[in-house]
Amino acid sequence: MAYDLILLEIEEGIATISVNRPKALNALNPQVMEEIGAALKEISRNPEVRVAILTGTGDKAFVAGADIGTMAKQTALESKRFSAAGQEVLFAMENAEIPIIAAVNGFALGGGTEIAMSCDFIYASENAKFGQPEINLGIIPGFGGTQRLARLVGKGWARELCLTGAMISAQEAKEIGLVNKVFPQDKLMEETRKTARLIASKGRAALRAIKHTINRGYDVDLRNGCAMEVDAFAIAFTSSDAQEGLTAFLEKRKPEFKGEI
Ligand code: CAA
Repeated sequence: MAYDLILLEIEEGIATISVNRPKALNALNPQVMEEIGAALKEISRNPEVRVAILTGTGDKAFVAGADIGTMAKQTALESKRFSAAGQEVLFAMENAEIPIIAAVNGFALGGGTEIAMSCDFIYASENAKFGQPEINLGIIPGFGGTQRLARLVGKGWARELCLTGAMISAQEAKEIGLVNKVFPQDKLMEETRKTARLIASKGRAALRAIKHTINRGYDVDLRNGCAMEVDAFAIAFTSSDAQEGLTAFLEKRKPEFKGEI
């Protein structure tokens, strides 16, 4: 499929989705969201793809939020549809069969922080800035910010960020657990790809089982989460990669995972 507002590149089993509206600091309008949703479907159908990276084009912004021009024209009902449709795309990111890393290369504000949080983890460049500035527009986060932020960094930081609308640096975001690693800007993609290649070398069924068990288990109590893990553990055993990994260890050689689903 052809995309107008995102770029999709697939190389060495790694799909890179770049939001490509640099003049609007990669703000998310309905078309961008639709294209991200379509790209997710495309890569999930492609057996070559083992892992994905989400980033923004240019060196200034990852995503500076939902498109304010679009929202300014919306009625309450339209804003509800925009929020609900955006949330579906973020759920599709979170529930994608493959791991997705956010490579945050600049401003990640409002919908930018929100879409980064729907990825499996976040790497950031030193110049990145995070925040939920919706309060400054008289509105509130609409792509899951009040929910995922509290789950990721705790209620205290979620309240402070959403109530003040303040921006925090990549380093501060790392200190509160929003970001895993921070790199100089010119190293961000190289380092993200390095981690992506490492993940891509693993067994696909096990990757999927880990991703889903962490995500789904987080929302239930420990005993039920562990019960999910028991089932996922058994399912991972059905893959040929599990047999290969266990056998390779015993034969003292490197496993060759085929990535069968
Ligand atoms: N929507 C639409 N356009 C945006 C945008 C956004 N979220 N953010 C930036 N732009 C546009 C600007 O309007 C400007 O366009 P023009 O050149 O045509 O005037 C261009 O991008 C460059 O932006 P600035 O001139 O403002 O750049 P700056 O360096 O002075 O400031 C910034 C950068 C601090 C990120 C500033 O642009 C800004 O505050 N942007 C808005 C951030 C924001 O409030 N995001 C939350 C949106 S609401 C939301 O996301 C709701 C939700 O949860 C679903």
